[in-house]
Amino acid sequence: MSLRLGDIAPNFKATTTAGDIDFYDYIGNGWGLLFSHPADYTPVCTTELGKMAFLQDEFAKRNVKILAVSVDSLDKHKGWVNDINETQKVTVGYPLIADPDKTVANLYGMIHPNASETFTVRSVFVIGPDKKVKLTLTYPASTGRNFYEILRVIDSLQLTSNFSVSTPADWKEGEDVIISPAFSLEDAAKKFPKGVRVVKPYLRYTPQPNK
Ligand code: BEZ
Repeated sequence: MSLRLGDIAPNFKATTTAGDIDFYDYIGNGWGLLFSHPADYTPVCTTELGKMAFLQDEFAKRNVKILAVSVDSLDKHKGWVNDINETQKVTVGYPLIADPDKTVANLYGMIHPNASETFTVRSVFVIGPDKKVKLTLTYPASTGRNFYEILRVIDSLQLTSNFSVSTPADWKEGEDVIISPAFSLEDAAKKFPKGVRVVKPYLRYTPQPNK
């Protein structure tokens, strides 16, 4: 059974390039991002882990702990990280789980047998401070992910978990957000003193509350 939004993200212990970790201890009271890639020493994965390293400070600013996983061995991971650093001009500062027996891959449903019996697909799990799954993404081996999109979703998740708003298509930090239709116009005006822009009774915008 695959993990769905709102499910508790299962804890696990794993061996990583940064030593042995307990997943819950690693993410602490903040947010977690667990992402899989099919295999070490492969081209798309090299660019993906490089891009994640390039953006690791952006994730840290949002209190998100990054953790990568694939079914390769620790030795292989360590050698490949050197290649990523060299070719992508970065320093990978987040741990890679060595999961040759597929413990984490199976726990998180990262093996899709009809795509590949052997390799993990490109999965992303964003986990909230309550340890619940907030976002899942699954990409095929042939398509590298857009890590700016993952940051964008995390901005939305963090905003909407604190305010009674949601974010429209293509929203980016700083843009207007949508007021929950559950509020009457009167209550919305009180709750969102920066202003309420009514397009339809069910489609109402306000400036981002925490800006
Ligand atoms: C890649 O990262 O380029 C890749 C990995 C596994 C299968 C296909 C492509």
